[in-house]
Amino acid sequence: MESIAEKILRLKKDKNAVILAHNYQRGEIQDIADFAGDSLGLSQQAAETDADVIVFCGVHFMAETAAILSPDKKVLLPDPQSGCPMADMITADGLRKMKSENPGATVVCYVNTTAAVKAESDICCTSSNAEKVVSSIPEDQGVIFVPDKSLGAYVASQLGRKMTFWPGFCPTHHRILAQDVEKRKQEYPNAKVVAHPECTADVLELADLVASTTGIARFCRESDVKEIIVGTENGIIHRLKKESPDKTFIEITEQATCPNMKKNTLEKVLWCLEDLNTDTDTESEHVVTVPEDIAKKARLAIERMLELSRPSPALKG
Ligand code: 13P
Ligand code: SF4
Repeated sequence: MESIAEKILRLKKDKNAVILAHNYQRGEIQDIADFAGDSLGLSQQAAETDADVIVFCGVHFMAETAAILSPDKKVLLPDPQSGCPMADMITADGLRKMKSENPGATVVCYVNTTAAVKAESDICCTSSNAEKVVSSIPEDQGVIFVPDKSLGAYVASQLGRKMTFWPGFCPTHHRILAQDVEKRKQEYPNAKVVAHPECTADVLELADLVASTTGIARFCRESDVKEIIVGTENGIIHRLKKESPDKTFIEITEQATCPNMKKNTLEKVLWCLEDLNTDTDTESEHVVTVPEDIAKKARLAIERMLELSRPSPALKG
């Protein structure tokens, strides 16, 4: 009998689809994905793919970003209810008010925002390029950073720069407490601590590395350290173990599990491909679209970020 994974791979081929998965997705989804990565890597893949259909295994703002970058493709979210509470902490109206109170400031929006908020922003960023994006803004210009106050405060401290923050945060990363990190460090005295910048400042102070999920994966793969305490959403541990089976990865708390990321399941990936009927006008509930007037403005903010994040061509000697 054909397994669910086999059915997905067959339908994927029939419909010329690509499966993109965030590093926090369930292990079985990461395993069947064409690409698993962080928010920046996923946006780059979505912008460059030749597929007709993108199955986006992540949360709603990620699928929206893919739809903005590839308006001619069908973008499917396996569970249409998988949102991001941090992205929902700010509205376009709220941002407009903040802009009117800070005239002339450049608005940097974390990719964890709705398309409507991106449309009100000057440039987008992810956790892997936030410092680079803020550094590209002239020193004498004010910066409004939305919506993640933890990532914003981390970038501000790294760059020694004053910025105005929106008071948003990731409920999952804020469940990782400094005392739990301390406890793990006592249990594993030789371990290094890695943390995502969505964590609170007291957790980041205890970390040996602060990076995006792909930055964390790279460090875990490449470093000689054998025991690593993982300060981010626990779903990443699947990938870390797969890439370095000889190393020990230590969860800080079982609370660091994003319920929205876990809404997508292998069955739902299959169903969204099965529901896709390219011959009718009836759109499946899985299809994510963005009205073109909003997409046009949001695209500018995302493309500015992608342009800044392109690897510079190797110097010829
Ligand atoms: P990155 O994978 O870009 O580090 O993002 C983390 C995150 O919380 C996405 O919702
Ligand atoms: Fe949103 Fe946090 Fe979940 Fe990422 S981990 S999707 S930021 S709630």
